[in-house]
Amino acid sequence: MATLTTVGGGAENAKPAAPVLPPSKDANEVKAPIVSGGGGFKLLKPQMYRQGWVDLNKNGRKDRYEDPTEPVEARVEDLLAQMTVAEKIGQLEQKRMDSDSDQKEAALLAGGGLGSFLGAAPDAGLRNRLQRIAVEESRLGVPLIFGFDTIHGFRTTFPTPLALSCAWDPDLVERLQAMAAAESAASGIDWVFAPMVDIARDPRWGRIAEGFGEDPWLGGLLAAASVRGFQGPDYSKAGRVAACLKHYVGYGAAEGGRDYNTTEIGLPTLRNIYLPPFHAGVVAGAATIMSAFNCLNGVPTSGNHFTLTEVLRDEWRFPGFVVSDWNAVFELIHHGYAGTRDQAAAMALTAGVDMEMVSDCYRTQLPALIERSAPVKAALDEAVRRVLRVKIRKGLFDVPYTGPATLDPMASAALAREAAQRCCVLVKNDRGTLPLQPGFRSVAVIGPLGDDQVDMLGCWSGLGRWDDAITLRKGLGVALKGVKVGFAKGCEIKGGDRTGFDSAVALARSSDVIILAVGEEALMSGEANYRLDLGLPGYQQELFDRIAALHRQLITILFTGRPLAVPAVLAHSAAVLVAWHPGVQAGMGLADLLTGAVAPSGRLTTTFPTTVGQVPNYYNYSRTGRPFDNYKDGSRDPLLRFGFGLTYTEFSYGPTRLSTTTLRASRLTVSATVRNIGARAGTEVVQLYLRPFSCSFGARPMQELKGYQRIHLKPGEQTDVTFALSPGQLGAVTSRGQWVTEAGTYAVTIAPQAGTEDFVSFTLDPNAPGVTAPPLY
Ligand code: BGC
Repeated sequence: MATLTTVGGGAENAKPAAPVLPPSKDANEVKAPIVSGGGGFKLLKPQMYRQGWVDLNKNGRKDRYEDPTEPVEARVEDLLAQMTVAEKIGQLEQKRMDSDSDQKEAALLAGGGLGSFLGAAPDAGLRNRLQRIAVEESRLGVPLIFGFDTIHGFRTTFPTPLALSCAWDPDLVERLQAMAAAESAASGIDWVFAPMVDIARDPRWGRIAEGFGEDPWLGGLLAAASVRGFQGPDYSKAGRVAACLKHYVGYGAAEGGRDYNTTEIGLPTLRNIYLPPFHAGVVAGAATIMSAFNCLNGVPTSGNHFTLTEVLRDEWRFPGFVVSDWNAVFELIHHGYAGTRDQAAAMALTAGVDMEMVSDCYRTQLPALIERSAPVKAALDEAVRRVLRVKIRKGLFDVPYTGPATLDPMASAALAREAAQRCCVLVKNDRGTLPLQPGFRSVAVIGPLGDDQVDMLGCWSGLGRWDDAITLRKGLGVALKGVKVGFAKGCEIKGGDRTGFDSAVALARSSDVIILAVGEEALMSGEANYRLDLGLPGYQQELFDRIAALHRQLITILFTGRPLAVPAVLAHSAAVLVAWHPGVQAGMGLADLLTGAVAPSGRLTTTFPTTVGQVPNYYNYSRTGRPFDNYKDGSRDPLLRFGFGLTYTEFSYGPTRLSTTTLRASRLTVSATVRNIGARAGTEVVQLYLRPFSCSFGARPMQELKGYQRIHLKPGEQTDVTFALSPGQLGAVTSRGQWVTEAGTYAVTIAPQAGTEDFVSFTLDPNAPGVTAPPLY
């Protein structure tokens, strides 16, 4: 029987445990191409459908909705007009795919009573069997759409999204998502529940690992890149899948970092911080959006008319459909928003949730509701229209089955290795500790993550397999020929005891190089995995202290799903590399960096606090009337700032220069000379920050990222890095959703990270095109 992975959560429907996989043979083995899909099902060629050789609904004629040459909207209307109420409601229901779904749901499917399944198996056999019942046995033959959580790879697990964002490279993200799409599609997945574009400012919240960090502009670039990667120019094409922006909206602002918790987000912050990545994804053409679990300003987001209809439909003209998160329609009752299931169904549907994931309030309640409520009846037709539109665009009516596809595991492994190299952030490197200099004969890899395959994958690893993962110990063994690579676990990641400390110390003493591999296990981040403490879990800090007491040069690798508050690790290591959970090629990517075969080029996209008490401590904070006030028992300065990251050379920045100090029309150019003052070639991520000094429709943050450039310089080489800023880029969104650029004083800086203070100011003239003057009062 196929291994099924279905995921999700909620009070009513618990998630099944992850499948247990066999242990590794040799992580470096060269694998044959994977042939996936089909599952023994007889497949018809697309053109057979196109040429009308196959009549999908067996009614003896070909309807307009079946004809791929007809416009999408005409097909939608033709089909909608033929559907019964039960068939319409069925399109709005998504069930979990279980291994016996083809038996359990056969009658429902044959009656045209189901729209979608959630789940995945390595091959498409079950998926095609389910599809066959829907397409060939139901009256109208409306195909199902199959969705799954392909979050950072499907069969090949890449670094977590937070890690990937540290590459500051939309092109890399697009390539990875395209690879993930191809692997997903080969197993029969039409639709991925990704990208997760929630802005997260609180590292206690475990789902920070699933998103692209704390900046809305960079988050938007990566959201759009993900959509392009998953969907390509046309998501009906082979190897492409429909994307789903999630979780709409504000989910990352959970109070106290507790998952699913309520959120209070002022409208200016909602508009300028939390909504922009979703908007960028909608502009990029995302097919679907997932409404979230959280309550936003008193109204749950899966019943929130303001966000789902006024913003998404009326302002942004989003044409796709909205699926609720797992059980979220039913949970409107838990929120105390809906009193009963029929209220929950009515509230969600009329607010703008088109498809209900897992719970069944729509199926059970809508038949009676539409008899008594005109708004519910109207909302039903509109929701069905949206679902059908995406199914038609996906090409499911024309090619409903998944055929075999040949994947190239060597290409995906190479991409995973590149991603692992690119996502790591070097945050300390005293006196050139790294890269390792030749001449050493032994390395001690110490710590519970040094030879751990499972946790390299991170949370949400799809159908990824831990036995594919190459550990740090293994990677170094491959890269360092003739060097003895010893390993001592020292202690468990969490729990356990100190009994392994002595052998770890002994190994460290007898080795030329000491590398500590510490941090979090994969499932300390991701859904429902939030933490009170941001230090190293278990006995790991004590292990670190014991090794640090040897007063040797320590190289520390932090494997983590979130920013950690580890000032002592920073203070007492000679070099620190934040590796996150870097995916199946962890060990190879890290070995490439440690040996200097590749220089680190990652930069943080999330602030590391010094202590959990500072949280939230994001870079684009709002100013206060008393900016110099501070904690009584410590500083509010973060441990590591947004944008920060080192490499194996150093760069100097000249002063930020402006082409004019009064911006009237056209553009302002901002430039600075950046010079490689070290001895090696290297890549720098040069960043542009804006500081708006006043804004009458709502004070703006202290600094906002407005651009970046990746430059590569040889030793001694310098270049002028120039950014062009037009008046239009200086604005912000008002609480009513308009982009407004107000005249006044602004400042900019070109810097290697957030939080520098060498801003230079200029004035934006009120007569510049598109600029409004602040009110005179
Ligand atoms: C998560 C979503 C996920 C869904 C389906 C939910 O519990 O919040 O991110 O897409 O399950 O697995």
